Amino acid sequence: MTVPKLALSENSDTAVGKTRADVVVIGTLQGEDGLELAAGAEVADAAFDGKLTEVLGTLGASGKAEEIVKLPTLGKLPAGIVLAVGLGKQNDGEVTAEQVRRAAGAAARALSGTERAFVTLSALDLQAAAEGIALGAYVFTEYRSEKGEAPLAKADLVNPAEGTAREHKATLKTATIVAESVIITRDLINTPPNDLFPASFADRAGKLAEANSLDFEVLDEKALKRKGFGGILGVGGGSSRQPRLLRVGWKPAKPRKKVALVGKGITFDSGGISLKPPANMDHMTSDMSGAAAVLASVVLAAKLKLPVEVTAHIPLAENLPSGTAYRPGDVLTMYGGKTVEVLNTDAEGRIVLADAIVRAAEENPDYLIETSTLTGAQVVALGNRIAGVMGSDEFRDRVAAHMQATGEGGWAMPLPDELRADLDSRLADIANVTGARWAGMLVAGVFLREFVADGLPWVHLDIAGPSFNTGAPWGYTGKGGTGVPVRTIAAVLTDIAEQG
Ligand code: BES
Ligand code: MN
Ligand code: ZN
Repeated sequence: MTVPKLALSENSDTAVGKTRADVVVIGTLQGEDGLELAAGAEVADAAFDGKLTEVLGTLGASGKAEEIVKLPTLGKLPAGIVLAVGLGKQNDGEVTAEQVRRAAGAAARALSGTERAFVTLSALDLQAAAEGIALGAYVFTEYRSEKGEAPLAKADLVNPAEGTAREHKATLKTATIVAESVIITRDLINTPPNDLFPASFADRAGKLAEANSLDFEVLDEKALKRKGFGGILGVGGGSSRQPRLLRVGWKPAKPRKKVALVGKGITFDSGGISLKPPANMDHMTSDMSGAAAVLASVVLAAKLKLPVEVTAHIPLAENLPSGTAYRPGDVLTMYGGKTVEVLNTDAEGRIVLADAIVRAAEENPDYLIETSTLTGAQVVALGNRIAGVMGSDEFRDRVAAHMQATGEGGWAMPLPDELRADLDSRLADIANVTGARWAGMLVAGVFLREFVADGLPWVHLDIAGPSFNTGAPWGYTGKGGTGVPVRTIAAVLTDIAEQG
């Protein structure tokens, strides 16, 4: 699906007329003494003779986050409607980027069926307003016969007071590229598992690679066998749709650093022979969210021309029970030679990831970022909106800080050494699960650590909850695939491009 067309505009009533916007979007705040207008709303307020706060108050507006109040302009402005969206309370006298992003997203959702909006929230934060509008307008209607109301098609964003026209243009371009990558991710996640399986994911990745001049390599089941990827082959063996391993790379002329990305690509996770219970098994269409996010992140690095080499390694498999499926009790020989005793075929993600992590380290990256819908325990510990962030201490904290700042929400978690003993196997180097159910998210991280090269700064983002919204839409997040953690990866890559 596409991103609405985003453009910049002056903030004046003549500009509203020139853009031919149907609706003017303004922000409202929950002030100490009640409703207040946010910066950017001046033009609309002037058109209402300075009485906009009073009028909105009469309509019941309070300024609380994501509140939507619409009023007709009756000719006072060239646009027919003013849409007031709540930003909530200020934090230490400031409106945060995430408040702007959520308000813009809520406004965009409320504007479905509208052709063109004049958005003044960008007076507060241009990048956040642009991202919020683009992501809030997203819908996935590929599989509906009746497409319903069209999403918002065009948004004119007012220039913020600070910065030059050139800077604003660059900011808008970055925001558009970021939103496009989030949407690539959402589209892949939202595609059902009968149409998205290892080979078809590989085809779609190949098309993206070609369109963005990226390096692209696919290993099919024969190549995987020849090279010894026992983990990916074991997990993928139960499906007639055989596994793949992709390598997708962006290589700039003078890279400052080299970053490896790894994303879990289980195109459907039934649990395998250790079958999952039927309730909500359909959510496992999203078990390739990490794969989609890292693929879209390489595309983003290329479009932004970041001076960082970025290579995604994407293991793809479908976890199904059958006569050819791997069993509890099997021992798999992984890429690189370590052996894994399979005690539960539903702990498949860590197995395919281990192969890909070892493969990624062969290229001597400076950093490794791995992301996966790895454990239900992540959802138990942190809920649906906060990812678990694990890895080497310093890099983990750096990534967690970015994940907070982008509004994607992530929290640093430890990898206690003592958990390793719980993974001791009767037969092999390591087992894929423990007998106990405590700290399941951390155990999975401890398992992955066994396959990470010594001294390599790395992070593991467990996005089991945050990658897929099974509840109601909120802010700029609709139902289904969310695109987490693409914006975090974008922020980390940009930081590495700047600081090393
Ligand atoms: N894909 C699941 C994890 C998951 C759960 C993602 C809920 C999204 C929402 C993963 O492969 C899995 O099944 N993990 C098991 C591990 C267990 C067997 C140790 C789990 O969390 O139950
Ligand atoms: Mn599983
Ligand atoms: Zn899984």
